[in-house]
Amino acid sequence: MCGIVGYLGKGRALEVILDGLRRLEYRGYDSAGVALVASGKLQVVKSVGKIRDLERRIWALSGEEAYHLGIGHTRWATHGRPNETNAHPHVAGPIALVHNGIIENYLEIRKELELAGYTFQSDTDSEVVAQLVRFYYQGDLFQAMGKAIDRLEGSYALAVISEEEPQVLVGTRKDSPLVLGLGEGEYFLASDVPAILPYTRRIVLLENWDRVVVNPQGVVVVGADGKKVDRPFQEITWSMALAEKAGYKHFMQKEIFEQPRALADTIGAYVSPAKGDIFFPEGELGEGVFSRIVLVACGTSWHAALVGRFWIEAQARVPVDVEVASEFRARNPILDGGTLVIPISQSGETADTLAALRIAHEKGARTLAVCNVVGSSIAREAQGVIYSYAGPEIGVASTKAFVTQMVILYLFSLKLGLVRGMLERGDVSWRLKEVLSLPRKMEEVLSHEEDVSTLARELYHVQDFLYLGRWLNYPIALEGALKLKEISYIHAEGYPGGEMKHGPIALIEEGLPVVAIAPRDVVYEKMVSNVEEVRSRGGQVILVGFSGDPLEQRVDRFLEVPPVDGTLTPFLTVLPLQLLAYYIADKKGCDVDQPRNLAKSVTVE
Ligand code: G6P
Repeated sequence: MCGIVGYLGKGRALEVILDGLRRLEYRGYDSAGVALVASGKLQVVKSVGKIRDLERRIWALSGEEAYHLGIGHTRWATHGRPNETNAHPHVAGPIALVHNGIIENYLEIRKELELAGYTFQSDTDSEVVAQLVRFYYQGDLFQAMGKAIDRLEGSYALAVISEEEPQVLVGTRKDSPLVLGLGEGEYFLASDVPAILPYTRRIVLLENWDRVVVNPQGVVVVGADGKKVDRPFQEITWSMALAEKAGYKHFMQKEIFEQPRALADTIGAYVSPAKGDIFFPEGELGEGVFSRIVLVACGTSWHAALVGRFWIEAQARVPVDVEVASEFRARNPILDGGTLVIPISQSGETADTLAALRIAHEKGARTLAVCNVVGSSIAREAQGVIYSYAGPEIGVASTKAFVTQMVILYLFSLKLGLVRGMLERGDVSWRLKEVLSLPRKMEEVLSHEEDVSTLARELYHVQDFLYLGRWLNYPIALEGALKLKEISYIHAEGYPGGEMKHGPIALIEEGLPVVAIAPRDVVYEKMVSNVEEVRSRGGQVILVGFSGDPLEQRVDRFLEVPPVDGTLTPFLTVLPLQLLAYYIADKKGCDVDQPRNLAKSVTVE
């Protein structure tokens, strides 16, 4: 994980780097640091904790007014504890380096360098790269970095500077993201676009193995074959407001309330209401002749996949497997040319999902990614991509990306059903009408936020929660429980209602909050039985159901959602669960947007 920033230009390196690091904190936040060059000398400040802790130590810099060159890092520890020594930038002689990724053969290189007389301060794999660049350095940083990366196995995005070349910034990437920003007489490197968006909208998405060198004469990018390549920039059109809090207390809260807009944008990108049809980028479904589909993802994206399976199987009648990416790759999966593998990832950078995609290619399967971040590794490597239009998601706990992933899977199931002749045009057009009504219905659910925050005030001190759902709402039970765990650190279990009697029923005692997701769908009656089983054992039932449900009178709390077609309920039922987790975490005083030990983009395996 980790976030990196580099700057060369007009003397505002410190400001730009700190600002960029703040926007990258979602990638890790256990320590941070900056290295700047002034009067031909490196100056380094590091701190354990977040960027605000680093800012408190900036006085330690010499007080120079304008830094023209610098790099910065926010860390999510992999090798070595989160302390100051292990924090980046790592300094080796005249070199300072920041790294995002994992160097797999670092011990071997470290031993070699130790034998050559080099000494190491930290326990990190990243310091080995800094020392290796120093080992090869003979006054040309770009060349030295090139030689160093030839030795590396693993993943990396690097930004490197040398006090001996105060007008040169170099960087490279392999399997960790890195973008180059082009300003007016200023250049930026960063792990993602929002980090530098206030300073430039002209962005180059660097490819794997690209090496870039920036100096006052301009930029040169060298590709994998060592030859100069022309990487065109793209003009970013989305606004910074989308990546800012816009008056909300937390990004997660803002992103929860943005969901109707995110859903409408994603639907709008692919649905023609006039034609009653769905249009994905050309050719991506071909003839729809797949014998099997495998949905592969991690975390919340995996929950979207679990919901998607119901739709694809029901509407397109293709068998679907849903896989946790790390498990999928662990067991030599059986795939062939008749299988379509769909990696689903908000960031498009999750290491396990990316590895699963590569396995799919190795085994000759076809691939189609669902991603939110344009130009991300998964989006680029898959044979096709369907983008969600959630906009930048900053809160570590995913919300708006989840609903947009679900809607893509729903639209995909309809289109595939049509292409395969399993659905009539008429079926598709009434279903699309229902889909188009979702953003308005989501607004309605969100307008009851006060009920949820009152409930949160009553429950925030509780130690355990149980979430129950069946069929389409079983994954929503998992998602509700995950949200609560992630941001409020309360233990929560999501379970299929039918399995309650095989274990979790033993947990039910007086007052245990049980969130039962029971819209009036084909499994409603069965959920009613679960509710009664919980009540008779003293559990406290919080029911998520359709407005006007008679069960309202029989439960402790009722969180209503407007009626909708039974196959679309997850879009509405997930909202009160996100709000509940959010308000409980906020009431407990937790760091909602940056929960402990987590990171938004998990680029380590
Ligand atoms: C991390 C995030 C989750 C996310 C998961 C998968 O664990 O904290 O919110 O669901 O990674 O991320 P992806 O970007 O692949 O969807």
